[in-house]
Amino acid sequence: MPSSSIYMEYQGLLLPSETHSEKSLDFAQRFNLKDDDVLAVTYPKSGTSWMQEILPLVLNGGDLTPLHTVVNWERVPWLEERTLEMVVDKLPSPRAFVTHFLYRLMPPSFHTSKAKVIYVMRNPKDVLVSSYYFHKMAEFLEDPGTFDEFMEKFLQGRVLFGKWTEHVKSWRHAELGDRILFITYEEMVQDLPASIRRISDFLCCNLSEEVIQKIAEHCSFQSMKANTMSNFSLVPKEYMDSDKSPFLRKGIVGDWKNHFTSEQLARFQSVIDKELEGENFSLP
Ligand code: A3P
Repeated sequence: MPSSSIYMEYQGLLLPSETHSEKSLDFAQRFNLKDDDVLAVTYPKSGTSWMQEILPLVLNGGDLTPLHTVVNWERVPWLEERTLEMVVDKLPSPRAFVTHFLYRLMPPSFHTSKAKVIYVMRNPKDVLVSSYYFHKMAEFLEDPGTFDEFMEKFLQGRVLFGKWTEHVKSWRHAELGDRILFITYEEMVQDLPASIRRISDFLCCNLSEEVIQKIAEHCSFQSMKANTMSNFSLVPKEYMDSDKSPFLRKGIVGDWKNHFTSEQLARFQSVIDKELEGENFSLP
């Protein structure tokens, strides 16, 4: 079992105590979301930090200042993490947040506001691989053990924010109409300018093609990796050791092929397929 000081339990889910507390979760529940707020919702390792890069630029018309002056976790804070309370008064309007919350955990103000949601989904096999390396470098999390052991934990939902399938289904079933945009990590890798255009149209930002291209350039994997405000290199090594694995690790689609044995693939696929039976979406 995970050590209780490393993790806390919240509504049946495992959360890291380093970044979350009873107080931060209570703050999130009491948080007053506004109609023009935007939330990027992700299961961990699906492109959260990418959205922390893209959203401010889409919302401010392509002004690069926030990318170079504010660290990503303060630029677009997590709704549920400790940082929010410290930075909320400094956020420009319209505000952008990220969250790993399942739909059922959203605060009451979400339901009474018109705040928009961008749900980013990533293929769960790549999520698992990314998460495995993240657990190796994030010193505030438990060592993942072998890949095989970590895969079992992932499939059983004994990982941060529970089962991948429950997370995706909870947002797919949320009846939010045109308040929600579903986008995939894979389509962002394949065509970032087109993905930014989708996000911009969804948020009614009316950006020119020139601005879209500029945002895409500054939100590329290489640009983010070179930006100390976005690559987590400012986090002390005792919390995140990039010598073990960089946070911005590979940024590709299909790295699972370098990690799964054929037995692991069969097991993984059968569990995920069963849990997604009858769902009206396919895996990216
Ligand atoms: P990998 O570990 O596969 O490289 P999150 O921000 O939700 O924790 O997700 C982290 C994953 O998103 C990492 O995946 C990271 O490299 C990837 N990522 C972040 N920014 C990216 C970008 N601009 N292009 C491609 N992948 C990106």
